[in-house]
Amino acid sequence: MNSSTYNFTNSWFESDAKGVWDFLIPQINPTKILEVGSYEGASTCYLIEKLAASKEIEIHCIDTWEGGVEHKKGGVAEVDMSDVEKRFHHNTKMAISKVENTVELMLHKGFSDVALSKLITDGKQGYFDFIYVDGSHQATDVLCDALLGFRLLKNNGVIAFDDYLWQEELAYGTDPIRCPKTAIDAFTNIYCRKIRIIRAPLYQLYVQKISD
Ligand SMILES: C[S@@+](CC[C@H](N)C(=O)[O-])C[C@H]1O[C@@H](n2cnc3c(N)ncnc32)[C@H](O)[C@@H]1O
Repeated sequence: MNSSTYNFTNSWFESDAKGVWDFLIPQINPTKILEVGSYEGASTCYLIEKLAASKEIEIHCIDTWEGGVEHKKGGVAEVDMSDVEKRFHHNTKMAISKVENTVELMLHKGFSDVALSKLITDGKQGYFDFIYVDGSHQATDVLCDALLGFRLLKNNGVIAFDDYLWQEELAYGTDPIRCPKTAIDAFTNIYCRKIRIIRAPLYQLYVQKISD
């Protein structure tokens, strides 16, 4: 591993998010950030470089570093997740070394339901300006991330969902429970009086909280 450059093995963030984040993140201009699903830290590093160039930020990352169900065959991750975790540490260290301001990076290694609940019991309701949900892609998990994330989000803060339109191609076709959209739609329907959907290209969905 070259210690002076980033080490990313995929372009998920570049292809799905970066184009929209380039115009949206400066508008939201978050200081307190929560990310569910960090993998090698591509989205984390983007936020660090973009925001901590001009101010101090606090960023919390939740990940099992075990991979999602869709990354596993027979229950075993298809990539070495301990290498992925090492690359996360290397990449975030690189990003922090590039910026002028202090970055408080807090890692919560574990399942998002437990980590998000713990943030709530630690008193962080209404604390975050920006929450990025990019962990498990199973509808049951995404629904839980959305509901707990909403409680942790400040009024006027934004919760962003990656892979709104992602679906697995399974032997029997697609499965509405094995993708994020079913959960995100349930959340946005039930919370319609408390949110506003931000106009943006649809692969990700950006939702602003307008009331508790
Ligand atoms: C798509 S990757 C995240 C990509 C990252 N945001 C980026 O931009 O490169 C999904 C991550 O979520 C983690 N994950 C999956 N299910 C999870 C769960 N229930 N709780 C916490 N992390 C989970 C996986 O270990 C994986 O690292």
